Amino acid sequence: MRMRFKPYARGELLASELHVHEPLAHAGHWRELYARPQQPLHVELGCGKGGFLAALAPRHPERNYLGIDITDKVLVLAKRKVEAACAARGVPTDNVRIASLDIERLAGAMTEEDRFARIYINFCNPWSKNAGSNKHRLTYPRQLLEYRRHMDEGAEIYFKTDDDDLFRDSLGYFPAAGFEITWQTNDLHRDEPAWNIRTEHEGMFSAQGIPIKALIARKGPDSAVTWQDPKALKRAANRKEETEHV
Ligand SMILES: C[S@@+](CC[C@H](N)C(=O)[O-])C[C@H]1O[C@@H](n2cnc3c(N)ncnc32)[C@H](O)[C@@H]1O
Repeated sequence: MRMRFKPYARGELLASELHVHEPLAHAGHWRELYARPQQPLHVELGCGKGGFLAALAPRHPERNYLGIDITDKVLVLAKRKVEAACAARGVPTDNVRIASLDIERLAGAMTEEDRFARIYINFCNPWSKNAGSNKHRLTYPRQLLEYRRHMDEGAEIYFKTDDDDLFRDSLGYFPAAGFEITWQTNDLHRDEPAWNIRTEHEGMFSAQGIPIKALIARKGPDSAVTWQDPKALKRAANRKEETEHV
């Protein structure tokens, strides 16, 4: 269901310390936004209404958390949930930040100095209706190669989805982008791991009887990357054809 415009969202976010007001201004310095900058940074891509962040961040003051989403409509709810969860546990919100960013344009807001110890991708848009849209998937190899730039070898991506096509294709995307899939399931809730935290969409899909697919992928060495940008391949093929006809 499409969420209604929330005219108060921007003002409320701008008045909050949790919200990163000018994300492009922090490239290379994101860790400085936290009270304890040296702590590992865990990033949730497409954090939505923030239930996942709100469950994790107050339990782990020894980690820093960043929730990224493209729309203020959900970020304002994430802000409220994180504040309420931290208050309920009696801990400060100084290890959590939320930012309004288009993940497809992450490269404009972050440099390799911004390091991610872990990434969560929970129920991203499957973009499955039209094969030409697949490149917008948050697990598409071009995206994974961008995340790689911010990760040390061995750092992990936790990925969950309700969508069969997205999951099947992602089983190919991760290895092509140099990630080793170390764990996977086609039904996360059948034998639910203790570490799993159900997100808002996870609860919704599960209630509809849709099995949740999940995997953990570990960053391997650069030599493990086999993916090549189809556009670059096409350009190279065109160049070759041109030179052959000279
Ligand atoms: C289906 S919701 C899932 C929300 C939450 N992770 C959950 O599991 O309940 C997908 C979220 O990703 C966000 N999103 C989609 N594309 C994005 C992009 N390119 N950059 C940032 N956020 C994006 C949407 O705004 C939405 O909040």
